[in-house]
Amino acid sequence: MRPSRSLPGNDPVTPPMFGGWLRHLRPRSRENVLDRTKALAGAFQLIGWQNSLRAVRYAVQRTWLDRRLERPPRAPSRVPGRLTAAEQVTGGARFTFAPTGGSSSGDSAADLTLEVRCLAAGGVFVGWDGAGPTPSYALAGFEAGHAPAPAGDTTLAREGDDWTVGTGALSVTVHPSGGLTFRSGGDGHAPPLRHDLPPRWDGVSWTHRSTLDSDAAVLGLGGRSAPLDRRGGTYRLWNSDPGGTYALGDDPLSLSIPAYLVVADAGTHVAFHDTSFDGTVEVGEQVVTRVTDGPLRYYVFPGTPARALDAYTALTGRPALPPRWALGYHQSRWGYGSESAVRRIVGQFAERDLPLSVIWLDIDHLVDNRPFNVDPRRYPDLATLTSDLAERGIHLVAIADPGVAMDRRDPVFAGGLAADVFCRDERGGLATGVVWPGTTVFPDFTASRTREWWSRLYQTYVSAGIAGFWHDMNEPSSFAAWGDGTLPLSTRHDLDGRGGDHREAHNVYALLLNHAGFDGVRRLRPDRRPYLLSRSGFAGLQRYAGTWSGDIGTAWEGLRISLSFTLGLGCSGMPYSGPDIGGFDAHPSAELYVRWFQLASYLPFFRVHCAASLPHREPWAFGPEVLGQVRPALTERYTLLPYWYTLAWIAHRTGTPYARPMFWADPADAALRWEDDQFLLGDALLVAPVLAEGVRERTVRLPAGRWYDRRTGTAHDGPGHVTVPAPLDSTPVLVRAGAVLPVERAGSIVLEVYPPGDDEGPGGVLFTDAGDGFAEPVEERFTIGRGDDGGLEVRYSGPAGSLPYDVDWRVPRDRG
Ligand code: NOJ
Repeated sequence: MRPSRSLPGNDPVTPPMFGGWLRHLRPRSRENVLDRTKALAGAFQLIGWQNSLRAVRYAVQRTWLDRRLERPPRAPSRVPGRLTAAEQVTGGARFTFAPTGGSSSGDSAADLTLEVRCLAAGGVFVGWDGAGPTPSYALAGFEAGHAPAPAGDTTLAREGDDWTVGTGALSVTVHPSGGLTFRSGGDGHAPPLRHDLPPRWDGVSWTHRSTLDSDAAVLGLGGRSAPLDRRGGTYRLWNSDPGGTYALGDDPLSLSIPAYLVVADAGTHVAFHDTSFDGTVEVGEQVVTRVTDGPLRYYVFPGTPARALDAYTALTGRPALPPRWALGYHQSRWGYGSESAVRRIVGQFAERDLPLSVIWLDIDHLVDNRPFNVDPRRYPDLATLTSDLAERGIHLVAIADPGVAMDRRDPVFAGGLAADVFCRDERGGLATGVVWPGTTVFPDFTASRTREWWSRLYQTYVSAGIAGFWHDMNEPSSFAAWGDGTLPLSTRHDLDGRGGDHREAHNVYALLLNHAGFDGVRRLRPDRRPYLLSRSGFAGLQRYAGTWSGDIGTAWEGLRISLSFTLGLGCSGMPYSGPDIGGFDAHPSAELYVRWFQLASYLPFFRVHCAASLPHREPWAFGPEVLGQVRPALTERYTLLPYWYTLAWIAHRTGTPYARPMFWADPADAALRWEDDQFLLGDALLVAPVLAEGVRERTVRLPAGRWYDRRTGTAHDGPGHVTVPAPLDSTPVLVRAGAVLPVERAGSIVLEVYPPGDDEGPGGVLFTDAGDGFAEPVEERFTIGRGDDGGLEVRYSGPAGSLPYDVDWRVPRDRG
């Protein structure tokens, strides 16, 4: 049964006075006035009094500028009239509807057209009112401007007043009203998968409705502070800086992606509305998508969750493959403050025999927080630091925000001004905002010359051995006391020669920054894969970067959000993400820290991070007892690294996330659809983290089949519920019977084998390579079968001829 719930927060449109930093006062996001006031005071303290004053001035200026662009909706609104023509085009068909009002192109007497195109890679494109798939920054290889390849075998058939466009795999029936019915299978007679109502244009925005069955769950839409099933909420499509903290229901956050996964008895599909303009998605009895100004164009990808995401990432780009070290443990804080502090921390990891893969440098490593201006007093010799760390297998990642200090003495500003790369206002002056360095300007990443200029800025870091880059504040964020904390909507953008303003460019700003960063780092270090982490982005960000929770609030609720946040991103094509362990804005209790650490150790991005001035939170910071409780999570992460790396390759090739919602085990099993406090990690593992205080055992819902408790070896048979112990030093993890799990022990790969139950089980797969670079991996597969003597054995397929690894048979101790 679908749980009924209403979400706190997320209003369809945030009232301007509760935008910007005043969003912390929003009545529904926090229980009491004191908490809200504290959050606001914290926000101002975070940015300092000088920037707070600038933020007030900026809000006045921006409100005034934006008001001039406001337009009321125009009556009568326009909907498709009579269907007057249908013609076959390559890959699909074009339909014409008689006019009923004003069109989005402003011509009130124009016909309304609909184009339906089936794609070679699977799925279908729908474009209303002349919208085609290009231009679009979401598409992989957008620079070439190619539309996605059409399917070769499309048919168009008429039955009564309905027209059906289809391939063998899917069909779309166009009704005379302008409604559309999508089905898997090509003849138009399979049970419907999705039904869309005729759209409506009101002179300002399109409203598009798609009906939802009552048994449907809806996931995705990017990084959201919301339950895993998005039903019952409204989500804005406008990347926004959460301003130092957020709670359940605060919306939007930094990374909106207009793609969602529907899982229902009738089947699963991904829908993707390709528009970068502002909008909302209301998920109730219908999915109501409202997009201002931009085109009404969308894609539907039917199939299992894996197949749908495969087709979605074939269109928008495969997730970048992180270097192997990026799947280890990351230590961060804002900020370590100096080279010697970094060395001290690294030394403390070694003294305690704790593994560490990455240390992060926040804005405090810069002169006055200015991007690319490394402070020579506190970081006099980055190159020696990185090479000393490299000897211990530790990598250094540095932050690079897009807000450039508006100061002629700043070399980045001077260079950018000379190259004319900064965004301009409507009158041709520099568009300015307020970020950590004070008054700032913003590179216009929608211009190829800007991307080229920016891509060269990484050179000094790369030569100094910095291994990866952290792109923050790139919504783009500008401190504003109220209203939207970003650039004025009238800010001009190049949009690769098309010209336009911030209404269109805002949501793709971070995407294109990462594009520039990825290209730059790739060029500067051609033998290694760029490693980028970005707070903001759009559909397609996965091509260049991973992401993280941003400033998630320190609370048990925050811990729960970090799971739905990561799983939801995975269903939006972004498989690599994770939370700030312990939350960003306050110091967690020891127990909260332990449970957060444990959860994150099973999420792709595993990093401790927190705001400036908070107490330290390295694994030993809470004392020896807590260190003893988190150590097993750290050790297990490194034990499972071969499995993690294999999942990274699978995500890179197919878009399937590492961490998957429970229904992945069986999308048709409605009982799994709303399980949001446990998840699957790859095909073999079921992780049941502890997400509440004081809990020392928990129930786990098992999908069908046998599962073994990874710690105790106890066997349990699903489907059903079991109660498992969850002492403070462990996370319940179950392994599917018949799984072959590649792990690392003392530097060698060992196969843990879990005997099959009634069915064969998933077996296993292993991808290995140098851990970086662009060579194809070695791919090895394992199945469990019975040998001539009737005993179980592991069968191998791969280049070695025979099984090259030691096998550890994990025989169950007893039956559950
Ligand atoms: C905001 C980011 O979300 C946070 O992680 C970072 O520490 C601060 N900016 C300072 O760079």
